Amino acid sequence: MTILNNIDKNAPIAFFDSGVGGLTVLNKVKKILPNESFIYYGDTLHMPYGEKTKEQLLEYSDKIFKFFESKGCKAVVMACNTTSSVIYDSVKDKYNLIVFPIVQSVAKILSQLPINKLGIFATRATISSMAYQNEIAKYNSNMKVYGQHCPDWVHIVEENTMDLANSREIIKNDFEKMMKNSPDRIVLGCTHYPFLLGVLSELANKDLFIDPAIPFADYIKDTLAQNNLLCDSKHRFEEFYVSSNPDNFKNSSCMFYELTELPKLLTF
Ligand code: DGL
Repeated sequence: MTILNNIDKNAPIAFFDSGVGGLTVLNKVKKILPNESFIYYGDTLHMPYGEKTKEQLLEYSDKIFKFFESKGCKAVVMACNTTSSVIYDSVKDKYNLIVFPIVQSVAKILSQLPINKLGIFATRATISSMAYQNEIAKYNSNMKVYGQHCPDWVHIVEENTMDLANSREIIKNDFEKMMKNSPDRIVLGCTHYPFLLGVLSELANKDLFIDPAIPFADYIKDTLAQNNLLCDSKHRFEEFYVSSNPDNFKNSSCMFYELTELPKLLTF
């Protein structure tokens, strides 16, 4: 990660994802950095990112990063495993922003877990990229990492249908497929998936699952603190934007974030 010289520590931290998933990260960051200002962009028009090509993800994210630059943000949190896995290397030095990618930021901590077999539930694009396997192998080449694509989970979260019998059946089938590998722990490698922890914990002990947003938030705080970039202003704010359907975003977000007003509609 590159730390730039001309950064205003009191500028907001930006977050983006294809929808409500990134709120699972913002929720954790806000708990440990309550004085910071935040700008969140949910690219709901292009959701699901996990089914998009690298070229499409680069096109969407270029507009989002330029928007964050125009807002004077100090950093961008890629609160999305898919974009972190597929395009982080292409965007990391392109903008006047510090870039925090979720996968690369938590790989070291995951590699140090005292286990042999790690499962990863994630989107098609994240699994195909092998990003988790490659990043973990940089620190621990002995750990076996089993990726599994869960094609319907993002829609279940965005549409808030996790309580329907059909959704539970889909989640159970994907879970059982993964359990054939007998993983010691399973990473929820898509920021939407912590919304499904209630359903998952009916299938196994909650401790089986790892929400990487927790170590990711610590990593963001530590990095900003080490570089003297924590906000020291009393005037904080939050802004939320989506590229379609603000009502749906507000309704689906409530498990991880209580929005006081509808997010603003913003397309590029
Ligand atoms: N929440 C994102 C992730 O972490 C994107 C999910 C999607 O839109 O497919 O991968």
